[in-house]
Amino acid sequence: MNPFLSLDIDYCSRFVGEHEIHHISASVEQAAALLDSQQGPGNDFLGWLDLPETYDKAEYQRVKAAAERIRANSEVLVVIGIGGSYLGAKAALEFCGHAFRNQVEKPEIYFAGTNISGMYLNQLIQVIGDRDFSVNVISKSGTTTEPAIAFRVFRALLEKKYGKKGASERIFATTDAKKGALKTLADNEGYETFVVPDNVGGRFSVLTAVGLLPIAVAGIDTDALLAGAVAARQKFAATSVADNDCLRYVAVRNILHRKGKDIEMLINYEPRLHFVAEWWKQLFGESEGKDGKGIFTASADFTTDLHSLGQYIQDGKRHLFETLISIDQPESDVVLAATEDDLDGLNYLAGKTMDYVNKKAAEGTLMAHRDGGVPNLQIRLPEATPYHLGALFYFFERACGVSGYLLGVNPFDQPGVEAYKKNMFALLGKK
Ligand code: PA5
Repeated sequence: MNPFLSLDIDYCSRFVGEHEIHHISASVEQAAALLDSQQGPGNDFLGWLDLPETYDKAEYQRVKAAAERIRANSEVLVVIGIGGSYLGAKAALEFCGHAFRNQVEKPEIYFAGTNISGMYLNQLIQVIGDRDFSVNVISKSGTTTEPAIAFRVFRALLEKKYGKKGASERIFATTDAKKGALKTLADNEGYETFVVPDNVGGRFSVLTAVGLLPIAVAGIDTDALLAGAVAARQKFAATSVADNDCLRYVAVRNILHRKGKDIEMLINYEPRLHFVAEWWKQLFGESEGKDGKGIFTASADFTTDLHSLGQYIQDGKRHLFETLISIDQPESDVVLAATEDDLDGLNYLAGKTMDYVNKKAAEGTLMAHRDGGVPNLQIRLPEATPYHLGALFYFFERACGVSGYLLGVNPFDQPGVEAYKKNMFALLGKK
């Protein structure tokens, strides 16, 4: 087992030759140098590059203290935020935690402000019932409609239940250091606030208080998460594609893209990776999809989706490639037993573990998809721990910055997100 995150491109070799990687290397290395020089487009949003080491240590201690208070006085935490203001925390909770955490761990953690559904909000309020709860509202701009609506509702509930002062002790606002509606409200009402640094965009903010507070409330080791990111920062700093799996990932996905593979599907065989894929889709989709360019990011959970998308992937239009994230060592496993009647015909697997079967399913699928014309990259993680997740977050963030520059876009803005808002506000009659 490789002790650290590594990239395996064996199932890609039919589609991408080593000589092609060699040919694109100079451009990838140039894009990486541009990122590191901090002179490229969007260079006022590069705080995440150094973040795992240069974060505000005093604030980090406040994050941990707030998490302890919430754990002690709340049965439920409602995390309100959308896009980059929730996906990292959600990914970490699912990756590092129990698959059924809200049934087995306290406090229960629910996400709101990720949609504009009144039904969803009502049902969440029903689930909380009359139990003690706190709210972490997260919005860098402080004006995003979805979380703002949800926060109105939960602030009113808290104030009704605990009074204004009591509510203010249960509301934690993660927002801009100085400006925005949420910052103003937090200052007026005396909420404890945490900062989304000016130079860190939403989708790169998981290792700030945006991600760290909910992750710490969940009882996940945030020190280990940050340590994994630091280790990845060192490991993937090498300037040459040949010595750096992060740059190699950038090289291969862009070679494939230039050959007409316009869709990258992030694949997993472990449900705990589902929201890592959601986080990744936003990271790359919002960073690269602009100016009429970009790889479309999609994802699938296998083997579940082999029974739905499997047909298309195997036989449909040949415009996609897959990146599989695999976990070498499962945290726990199930051994299959023999039965007397063997009616389901599974006795040949008696004594084998589910992870063994799962890995054979992955191997069989890798071969089948490759043979069907779908290149596969594989990112291998030794274990599903906070440390390795921190490394994965940093690996993808760095790859995304380099890949965006290679593509010739500003990976750190998102002008396209405004279009729907403009129409929605006009339709709603906003002055
Ligand atoms: O990556 C981004 O910048 C976006 O996804 C934002 O995180 C999202 O739109 C939420 O914005 P805000 O935190 O300002 O409410």
